[in-house]
Amino acid sequence: MTKIWIIFFAMTLLSSCYYDVEEELYGTLECSTEGMTYSGEVLAIISANCYKCHDAANNFGNITLEGYANLKKYVDNGQLLGAIKRQPGFSPMPKNEPPLLDCDIAKIEQWIADGALNN
Ligand code: HEC
Repeated sequence: MTKIWIIFFAMTLLSSCYYDVEEELYGTLECSTEGMTYSGEVLAIISANCYKCHDAANNFGNITLEGYANLKKYVDNGQLLGAIKRQPGFSPMPKNEPPLLDCDIAKIEQWIADGALNN
């Protein structure tokens, strides 16, 4: 009888460790990528995740992503997408941190597909 209780207790413990992250529960289902703009979405994602190393003051790796014109250089040479999508041949970004959320990557990709405008 005690064995059953031990098993029951163990199961309760295990199931309470459930990892509850919205992105993992719903995937990219709720990710809207319509009408992406530089000032609306892209700037917010880049400044929150990249400026601590790539604003004009830090300029890590001699790369500044602050401001549209600077960011656009790395859009055009393919390094921005290569780095955030962790493609072979690129240094994975953000460096030493988990990847950006799939939804944030999808938003940046859509903005680029729409012409990467300064909008
Ligand atoms: C903790 C500091 C840090 C953060 C945060 C960071 N980077 Fe970097 N990044 C670097 C360094 C340092 C390099 C130079 C290459 C290297 O050391 O890997 C670099 C290189 C790059 C490169 C050139 C990649 C290549 O293959 O040569 C790109 C593009 C880039 N970063 C974009 C980003 C973007 C976009 C973000 C945010 C999503 C970001 N980085 C966040 C430190 C950082």
